[in-house]
Amino acid sequence: MTAAPSFEDLLGRPGLAWMGQNTTHLEPPPEVTEALLRSTREREFQLYAPALGFSRLRELIVRDLGLAGADAWVTDGAVGGLHHICTALATDLSRVVTTDPGWPWPGRFAGFSGTPVSTVDVYPAGKATAAGFAEVIEPGSLIYLIDPLNPLGARYDRAELEAIVELARDTRSLIVHDCTYRHFADGHTLVAGLYPEGTFTTYSFSKWLGLAGLRLGAVVARPDLLARLTKVPSNPLGANIQAQRAAIAGLTVKEPWLERVRAANRRNQEIVRHATETSGFGSVLVWPSHGNFVAVEVGPGLAEAVCAAMLEHDVFIRPGTYQSPRSGDRFVKVSTSVPVEWAERFAVAWAKLEVWP
Ligand SMILES: Cc1ncc(COP(=O)(O)O)c(C=O)c1O
Repeated sequence: MTAAPSFEDLLGRPGLAWMGQNTTHLEPPPEVTEALLRSTREREFQLYAPALGFSRLRELIVRDLGLAGADAWVTDGAVGGLHHICTALATDLSRVVTTDPGWPWPGRFAGFSGTPVSTVDVYPAGKATAAGFAEVIEPGSLIYLIDPLNPLGARYDRAELEAIVELARDTRSLIVHDCTYRHFADGHTLVAGLYPEGTFTTYSFSKWLGLAGLRLGAVVARPDLLARLTKVPSNPLGANIQAQRAAIAGLTVKEPWLERVRAANRRNQEIVRHATETSGFGSVLVWPSHGNFVAVEVGPGLAEAVCAAMLEHDVFIRPGTYQSPRSGDRFVKVSTSVPVEWAERFAVAWAKLEVWP
């Protein structure tokens, strides 16, 4: 098996259907592009931004989430905030509990700081239960909950979150509610509304607004809780100033933009599902997916071969191995907030797949 090519190598293939990073590749709102151009013309890149982000942006993020009374800290992508949570709070944490499949970095950050990490197996349904977490949790843990779950696309119902919050209260644990994909979900509930005294909500501009390369996100929490992180912020010189201008512009035109991006996402998810059903190879694991991606079961040991074969047809998708040590060899993940031509190319390529166990 050949090793997966680096992102840098893939960038050298301009015609590639880029369906492997859950990023959005539609023409951005003109207001966002204009904000970037204006900021460049005004040479704002010569300045540092405020340590916690522009006040206007912080207000807009809190308003977008509808978490009155909360405060936002603008970070270098959601991942910058997650890194700081897992390292700055490490001495107060007995354990991090999370899921497999999931997103591996927060567990790695915690492990790097010496905090033990436990994962609960959620394959193939994509949701942990309070009972599942209860088997591994200790007093003073941090529950890292990705919702909707990258890579499977499941999202939690309110009652499921209430049970997890009860466990967190009983064990005096914190919750990180990673809401990176919230804008693609139907009927999403914020844990912070149920457990404001113990929840950090992480927020990203990489996915719904498509600013992945600009590196902008946020951590939102009650001011007393957020202050535990911001008394010594990880980047006191401020997150990317141009990205903040673009994010403000994006939040200002959020409704029409989301309507467009969600419609494109849903249509492409249907194309991917139809392609797997009609080819007789693979099956979508969680439907509907509440993220901008779908996960497709392809059979044990086949995920990397399928991705390599798709790449030969100029379609970049990812194997589950990146996100699931337990089950990742048996599924692939396909990002869907992309031009319809890419989804159609995916369908044609999928129909031609010849993968032998
Ligand atoms: C679950 C999850 N959290 C966080 C991130 C990182 O987001 P950002 O690009 O805002 O750093 C990702 C990116 O793929 C993700 O899937």
